[in-house]
Amino acid sequence: MRVLVTGGAGYIGSVTVEALVAAGHEPVVLDDCSTGHAGAVPAGVTHLRQNYTVEASTMAALRDHRIDAILHCAARSLVGESIREPARYYRQNVAGGIALLDAARAAGVDRVVFSSTAAVYGEPEITPIPEDAPLRPINPYGETKRTFEGALEWYGRAYGMRSVSLRYFNAAGASAAFGEVHDPETHLIPNILRSVERNEELTLFGGDYPTADGTPIRDYIHVIDLADAHIRALEATGADDAPGFAAYNLGSGTGFSVLQVVAAAEAVVGHAIPTRIGPRREGDPPVLIASTDRARETLGWEPRHGTLAEMIGSAWTWRQGHPAGYADGA
Ligand SMILES: NC(=O)c1ccc[n+]([C@@H]2O[C@H](COP(=O)([O-])OP(=O)(O)OC[C@H]3O[C@@H](n4cnc5c(N)ncnc54)[C@H](O)[C@@H]3O)[C@@H](O)[C@H]2O)c1
Repeated sequence: MRVLVTGGAGYIGSVTVEALVAAGHEPVVLDDCSTGHAGAVPAGVTHLRQNYTVEASTMAALRDHRIDAILHCAARSLVGESIREPARYYRQNVAGGIALLDAARAAGVDRVVFSSTAAVYGEPEITPIPEDAPLRPINPYGETKRTFEGALEWYGRAYGMRSVSLRYFNAAGASAAFGEVHDPETHLIPNILRSVERNEELTLFGGDYPTADGTPIRDYIHVIDLADAHIRALEATGADDAPGFAAYNLGSGTGFSVLQVVAAAEAVVGHAIPTRIGPRREGDPPVLIASTDRARETLGWEPRHGTLAEMIGSAWTWRQGHPAGYADGA
């Protein structure tokens, strides 16, 4: 399968492109490197350094490379920034996403897999969260992802598009070759590891949540398990009886508090990690844990690297091998 991967030079995109190649598919990366890195595109994979929101050039890319399916990983994805600058999120994630879908229609590409997020649920009433829980995002990031999911569903009904939305919980870990480099970095595990590298105290966002130790609980999923789910989802869109739209949670189904993650990181690095409790961060629900039954039953997917030791250990190994991040320095 020839797959256009928007955001293929990013964290999750790069590991997924690597897995697509290993599975015998032909990915083409479309990424403007606004938050990603040219060095994160595996050697031998075509990298179109362009903006997916520009319909004409995206359509040309789909046609020129005779693309069968799109994996849409590119997005603006910072919760805090989305609250300060919602226009940027609607313009990129919604309007830009529609430009991508219309480019796909014009080019005759009718299979799409989308990087969605647990943020579409907002503050859920049921834990673990099933896919049919109400979608009530509490920030523009989650709202724009939810809106694009709606577009996928309606494009399925009207135009015969077949799409899968993958609602990731917290991606973590690295492959041997590709890891996580964001600036700014808002994710817990890379921030813990950076504080270890710099020998700095780590500030945690809030210690007064209604959880056993007062810190928020999240569901972490190894990026290699995510990559595997993407390939299964892409293949599912090609089935004769593929639905117009389906959504799947991707998590390990287990929750860990921030302090449990810090303790697991201490075991990986072999020493104590000094922390202090700071104020809460806007837009952080207390508990987010995925119900993963649907992905297991329908896609035959199973997370295989679900321990914090594997996720933090692989991220730590990757960082030690890449102390300056990617060679392009971006
Ligand atoms: N990392 C997580 O834990 C997590 C959790 C839930 C959902 N997601 C979603 O997964 C996707 C990937 O996340 P990530 O952590 O790998 O992010 P990332 O920032 O590392 O990757 C995104 C990539 O998209 C590219 N990009 C952005 N806008 C573009 C544009 N207009 N044209 C072309 N390329 C563009 C960036 O350069 C970058 O390489 C995002 O859609 C994000 O919302 C991530």
